[in-house]
Amino acid sequence: MSIYPHLFAPLHIRNFYIKNRIESAPISHSGGVPFYTREAQEMYSTFAKGGVGIVTLGEAGVHSQTGHAHPTMPHLDDTTVLPGLIQTVDAIHKWGALASIELTHSGNRAKGSLLTEGGFVMGPCAMETNLYGDPVVEMDEDMMNMVADAFAEAAYLAKFAGCDMINIHGGHGWIISQFLSDLDNHRTDQYGGCIENKARFPLMIVDRIREKCGNDLIIEFRLSAEEGIPGGITIDETVEFAKLLDGKVDIIHVSAATFHETATASRMFPTVFYPRGCNVENAAKIKAVTKKSYVSVVGGLNDPDHMESILADGKTDMVVVGRQMMADPNWPNKAKKGKADEIIKCIRCETCISAGFIPHVPFSSGVLRCSVNPSWGREYENTRKEDKPEQLKKVLVAGGGPSGMEAAITAARRGHNVILCEKSDHLAANLDYAKQISFKQDIVAFLKSMEVNVRRTPNLEVRLNTEVTEELIQIEGPDVLIAACGAEPILPPIPGLDQPIVHHITDLYKKNVKAGQKVVIIGGGLAGCEEGLSLAWEGKDVSIVEMKPELAKDAPYIHWKHLLSKLSESVTSYCSAKVQAIEAEGVRIVDAGGNERKLEADTVFIATGMRATSERYDTWHDLVEDIIFVGDCRRSSKILDAMRTGYCAGMTI
Ligand SMILES: Cc1cc2nc3c(=O)[nH]c(=O)nc-3n(C[C@H](O)[C@H](O)[C@H](O)COP(=O)(O)O)c2cc1C
Ligand code: SF4
Repeated sequence: MSIYPHLFAPLHIRNFYIKNRIESAPISHSGGVPFYTREAQEMYSTFAKGGVGIVTLGEAGVHSQTGHAHPTMPHLDDTTVLPGLIQTVDAIHKWGALASIELTHSGNRAKGSLLTEGGFVMGPCAMETNLYGDPVVEMDEDMMNMVADAFAEAAYLAKFAGCDMINIHGGHGWIISQFLSDLDNHRTDQYGGCIENKARFPLMIVDRIREKCGNDLIIEFRLSAEEGIPGGITIDETVEFAKLLDGKVDIIHVSAATFHETATASRMFPTVFYPRGCNVENAAKIKAVTKKSYVSVVGGLNDPDHMESILADGKTDMVVVGRQMMADPNWPNKAKKGKADEIIKCIRCETCISAGFIPHVPFSSGVLRCSVNPSWGREYENTRKEDKPEQLKKVLVAGGGPSGMEAAITAARRGHNVILCEKSDHLAANLDYAKQISFKQDIVAFLKSMEVNVRRTPNLEVRLNTEVTEELIQIEGPDVLIAACGAEPILPPIPGLDQPIVHHITDLYKKNVKAGQKVVIIGGGLAGCEEGLSLAWEGKDVSIVEMKPELAKDAPYIHWKHLLSKLSESVTSYCSAKVQAIEAEGVRIVDAGGNERKLEADTVFIATGMRATSERYDTWHDLVEDIIFVGDCRRSSKILDAMRTGYCAGMTI
């Protein structure tokens, strides 16, 4: 029997057999084109291969003339999507998973410039302009029928392509939730006011799909149980709506939040400041009132023990997993085989979802990347013949941080003989700071699973308390040396750096420095801000001084938004400010308005960045034929770059 009997219990819905209770959340594929490309097929089939019961393709539009909001979103009213869609569905079926696809219409959030000829933007109520500056027409019943028919036609096409299931996107601020939410729906006719009226159009869509597609299609309805802003949908309203949905759809899928207000995106893609499973209690309330439909829940789930307990406690019937699918698509198989400790955990850094938030980033990259899964977005590489090594080599890795561990694992899995040396007494010592910060525990869990993988990888020897020196290189005589020796602090030319109250931010864990009560942090990048927030939560009086106009601009957008709101509650910040000098009892600055200020402090931390150390190892070039610099040693950066450079090193030897 599985150690997760509820998670791996099969489920029968209509004529379909679902092998377990795990559904991959709708995740749009990367590639920047509105088609199911080879990359999309690889991505979704990788989810299926990993062992989930249902794979859900990301949002697909149903009506190009009125519903378009993303240039890269496929639209199912265009049959040219069919060949790629059919191949994607086939690739999912190959691994025994059901294929589902999310259907959506943007309503009043459609973008006029993307609509096809004769298009116009419409919603539950007229608006002078929407967020794109397009006028919005109030929908009459003809328009509602047109959209309901478009959903039905799209579902029919999906079924033709082989989909076993469709997911109606009834949440996140798109057309259906616009009708359900008082933020958008101010109608006084039979489509506004009480929940029965607000639900009339959403239920029309559900009925139309069932009429068109018949009984052999599973219908799932994704909703935002609460929108999280004043005037938005509340859980009490959703409970009433769920009673109306019960039996009309097969699965009610519980999410949260709305794009109506991007601040709530921190709940839609739950950040590290939310407990994992932040929608579970809402889902349980919905399950308590539904008799015929199954209930599933999404939001920050990444641990099979946790998922098992949600199901065992009867809170939901299924779990839906988004980012963890990218962090380690193989996690269900690992859990089933009793190897849950090998699952590489999503750290909720928000890198994947933040790549398109202009102007926080200057361009939308159109590429999905994952900080902890360096092969994400390039799954096809794992099966390419040319990536098998021509000759097995002896590899010495200097440094046991994420990049060194990833390089060692990848090289060893490909058959090379690897020695991984770490100068401290444990791996990933440079990230020890995370252990002390309550909202960084995801990183601690990720590093733990990396370490388990290092220990279990054949051909990989770990040597702790071992610094790689010229002498060691000569003794071992590796064919390839991978330098993953980390970065060193940048110390800005500020008078008073030698004051006894001054420390580098890394001294908090490297030298076990204890902060006093009044703390000034010089440098408001991500590291300084997160450490500042953590100290403030410990009760310290924290000020952050940053020379740029905004704090933590190096953070991924969704994390950044939430971090800023947390900082504003507990930390004093001075942006566009210049530090003049550090003195015995504080820091003198010139603030954004040009005023001189003295910030009292008993502890000053420098957090002005790190720099790569590769030039320190110039002499190593003469000792070994091949040397590859990875991680911070090559260029000080984030876990994403550390993992990718480590992976690339391991893959190219
Ligand atoms: C890269 C990315 C793409 C996503 N694309 C979609 C999408 O197309 N439609 C949708 O409803 N949600 C989308 N989501 C949201 C997920 O379905 C899910 O609700 C969210 O990530 C929270 O679940 P998680 O905490 O398990 O990641 C996306 C999320 C990510 C990270
Ligand atoms: S990029 Fe970050 S948030 Fe996204 S899946 Fe990977 S670890 Fe999770």
